[in-house]
Amino acid sequence: MRLHVADHPLVAHKLTVLRDRETDSPTFRRLADELVTLLAYEATRDVRTTTVELRTPVAAATGIRLATPKPLVVPILRAGLGMLDGMTRLLPTAEVGFLGMIRDEKTLEATTYANRLPDDLSGRQCYVLDPMLATGGTLAAAVHFLLDKGAEDVTALCLLAAPEGIANLREAVGDDDRVGVVTAGVDERLDADGYIVPGLGDAGDRLYGVV
Ligand code: URA
Repeated sequence: MRLHVADHPLVAHKLTVLRDRETDSPTFRRLADELVTLLAYEATRDVRTTTVELRTPVAAATGIRLATPKPLVVPILRAGLGMLDGMTRLLPTAEVGFLGMIRDEKTLEATTYANRLPDDLSGRQCYVLDPMLATGGTLAAAVHFLLDKGAEDVTALCLLAAPEGIANLREAVGDDDRVGVVTAGVDERLDADGYIVPGLGDAGDRLYGVV
């Protein structure tokens, strides 16, 4: 599994304001959006491209364009929706599929309750949006779901990760380099309720309010 922790003062600044419990919901949304765009820049380093010939106003030139099939962006409901605009700002031609996953409190298995994705993901590069990599159960299930449908590779963008979540995901996918995580930070630990410490609280509640 690939792991990239974005190391940049702008990332650290935005993450610090997101963590602050005094930050209100509109500011949280805007900063999360900006932070995702910075993470998207890192996460798309290996996006597939194709060489093209063109003419500038001055001369013939060679360049690259994004290849087909188009990348697929997959926000995990609900909190992943708050990351969508930040991602598609950099990948406006990407297609977007939605995945709703819920954890069964008895079996602790994550199951899919909503799926708006193409059936066949052969050759598709997928970018999963899930703000908090806590236990890793949901993300592992989402990654397997996409790989089972034929995805070529799956890169998750997470605002924050816990060491436990990274370890669990690594155990679930092994050394499969088709799977990657790009995050703004790896925190200390999970608490007994599954919150990342120090973290930023419940990302969904901070984005959308408590419902
Ligand atoms: N989900 C969240 O929203 N926050 C955490 O700290 C852990 C999981």
